[in-house]
Amino acid sequence: MRIDRCVCTDTTLADIVAMARTEGLSLTQLEDRVGCGTGCGLCRPYVRRALRTGVTVFNQIVHEADEPPAA
Ligand code: FES
Repeated sequence: MRIDRCVCTDTTLADIVAMARTEGLSLTQLEDRVGCGTGCGLCRPYVRRALRTGVTVFNQIVHEADEPPAA
């Protein structure tokens, strides 16, 4: 299974990471701007991991408990 986006907003993790880096947005600011993580919430650990590591495509399930809280 390939996981590369917030399905609720159809926004790729690559676009989220790029936006965070180019505009210096925090997770909360990204949630407000894009809506990622504010729908079903299943993308939240993926978004956090993508922001932390820069990896934007996942082939494994990542749970909330797998990721440290956002800084
Ligand atoms: S997949 Fe991102 S909020 Fe549902």
